[in-house]
Amino acid sequence: MKPMVLSYSEQGQGMPLVLLHGFPFNSSLWRYQVRSLSDAYRVITPDLRGFGQSEAAEGVYEMSLLAQDVLRLLDELRIEKAAIMGHSMGGYVTLALWRLAPQRFSAFGLIASHVWADSEAQQQAREQLIGQVMERGAVAVVEALMPRLFAPNLNAEEPIQEQARAMMLSAPSTSLTSALRGMMYRPDSSDLLPQIDVPALILCGDSDPIVPPERAEQMARQMPNATLVVIENAAHMPMLEQPQATALAIRNFLNSYRHAQMES
Ligand code: MLT
Repeated sequence: MKPMVLSYSEQGQGMPLVLLHGFPFNSSLWRYQVRSLSDAYRVITPDLRGFGQSEAAEGVYEMSLLAQDVLRLLDELRIEKAAIMGHSMGGYVTLALWRLAPQRFSAFGLIASHVWADSEAQQQAREQLIGQVMERGAVAVVEALMPRLFAPNLNAEEPIQEQARAMMLSAPSTSLTSALRGMMYRPDSSDLLPQIDVPALILCGDSDPIVPPERAEQMARQMPNATLVVIENAAHMPMLEQPQATALAIRNFLNSYRHAQMES
């Protein structure tokens, strides 16, 4: 399959910052961070293939294919280098992008994401979920994911849960199964950690069952230039659960390495 033209939004001027959403969300996941960071950065938020306004082509959405879509977007926008960060599945895409074109990164970030491939049990769970999505649509994904996304002490009335649910339900079933298949067969990327030599942000929530702080720390330790940030009172969705703290962590990280560049 060829790379496709992605829908995206772009705000602000300055150093490009690309934020990739996770599964099964879309670019609106980053709404708060776009508003906050676009005073100093050119913030670009694509809808990955099959999500948001981007076309839902058929076939397996391999992480390398999704990465090629993002590369094509960078080419179209004439962006040679950007700080590229991804949330969860968006992080898997960021890793695939590093494999394809490390020279396009001025900085790298994993937000509630990790480098490890699926275990056999996780692959089986994905296979089951694919079956349920084919029968019942996006609601099966909502039921499977919702209990793991938010910190347990989050107020049940909190509108962000409704926002997340609405985003998930808006994804077409074919995109859900295509992305689940793509994640299921993604390669392990632990070998990349020592090679990612640009400034790297590893950010996770303190109560994320999917990427707990110990795992985030384990990755950061193997990287030559990593900053680890653990966001308090957040699980898998720090950009929604703690939008200000997440934006501030990204800003501090980007500012500190820009200052370091200016001084050297
Ligand atoms: C995500 O949030 O993108 C997914 O939970 C990632 C995954 O299922 O591995």
